[in-house]
Amino acid sequence: MLNVAVIGSQWGDEGKGKIVDWLSSRADVVVRFQGGHNAGHTLVIDGVTYKLHLLPSGVVRGEKLSIIGNGVVVDPWALMKEIETVRAQGVSITPDNLIIAENANLILPIHPILDKALEAARDPSGKIGTTGRGIGPAYEDKVARRGIRLCDLEEPEFLKEKLDKLMFHHNAFLRGLGADEVGVDDIYTKLMEIREQILPFSGVPWKVLEEARLSNKKVLFEGAQGVMLDVDHGTYPFVTSSNTIAAQAASGAGVGPKSVGYVLGITKAYTTRVGTGPFPTELHDEIGEQIGQKGHEFGTTTGRKRRCGWFDAVLVRQAVKVAGIDGIALTKLDVLDGLDEIKICVGYELNGEKYDYYPAHQKHQAEIKPVYETIEGWSETTYGARSWGDLPAAAIKYVRRIEELIETQVTLLSTSPERDDTILVKDPFFSQVV
Ligand code: IMP
Repeated sequence: MLNVAVIGSQWGDEGKGKIVDWLSSRADVVVRFQGGHNAGHTLVIDGVTYKLHLLPSGVVRGEKLSIIGNGVVVDPWALMKEIETVRAQGVSITPDNLIIAENANLILPIHPILDKALEAARDPSGKIGTTGRGIGPAYEDKVARRGIRLCDLEEPEFLKEKLDKLMFHHNAFLRGLGADEVGVDDIYTKLMEIREQILPFSGVPWKVLEEARLSNKKVLFEGAQGVMLDVDHGTYPFVTSSNTIAAQAASGAGVGPKSVGYVLGITKAYTTRVGTGPFPTELHDEIGEQIGQKGHEFGTTTGRKRRCGWFDAVLVRQAVKVAGIDGIALTKLDVLDGLDEIKICVGYELNGEKYDYYPAHQKHQAEIKPVYETIEGWSETTYGARSWGDLPAAAIKYVRRIEELIETQVTLLSTSPERDDTILVKDPFFSQVV
């Protein structure tokens, strides 16, 4: 028996919600290990839709333990609001089923202000298109070692001193930008108000996870965003501010690397991206528009229209390698139903040279051209298929070609948002990692 880490293998929004929900129903503990409320997971359980941003998906199943790990940046106000929304849907959330790492860094009201001010100050070609939630500035404070962590709320006087130093730094910067300064007292008062609500959830996940390991409990590590938004391995600088790869599950939760277990990469049968940054297979034509409409490609968190394009096998293969993906869950195949032909990116070209990987330089990433292979489409529907026999031969051929190109297997195929519309090849919790 194994633990499982679920990550996105493209630019996020691969349809993790359904898969994570299915896996969390089989896990004992569900852990978020990076990112913040920039993420958005939609779960549909017994006809009820839950929209989660920061809470681990296991939380809607009362009997599971949910953990927000130290690798996450936590906005206490956004979190308490999300807890209230989910509670109003009849879900019980208490310190018995939700633990937040005492050493998790907090997103403070200054962080979204800085996020927006920094984005506004960037020239048009440099804009990242962040979610504006303060994620980047909060991680910056963390690595600059001036961040405020959940445990800091335990000591009000010490907190005030830390806040003074933090705001001294940020106000100097805001002055430089010609923006209004932000008072320390206001943030301190707000923190003192939320303190009583959030501190009861504060805990020590590494200890809880060690106990879970010793008692053979199944742990699901739930990633947010995708490998191409990873701060090291993604399309830097057009990335998020955390590591989104599976290795982060260990450091962002407080377990050893061997505890991460099977790495499942959620992969869309085509490609989408929100925000700015390079996207070699982006479609600017009617097909791109059609894919976006049919796939309901609008962000869960910001409502922004997602850019759409063909499946990029080179990018996904790279994601498989750098993130140690053991198998993929292929989602939204039905969105391609009815296309006469489908293209897959199988390589790139730049200045007459061929590439079998995505180079790191931002100029090269922007200029590189995809090399396509065209395969036959299918006219039948794949929506709701529950076995390979339900799929048209051309759709199976497409899936097999993807497996070949990305050099890993399809562990499961999701054919609609409904939980049962899934073709399961292997149960990740019981798969052998080779
Ligand atoms: P940030 O994470 O808000 O700093 O945004 C940095 C980049 O990551 C932007 O391009 C965002 O659109 C993108 N991003 C952040 N979270 C998600 C997500 O959950 N899905 C897809 N893209 C995301």
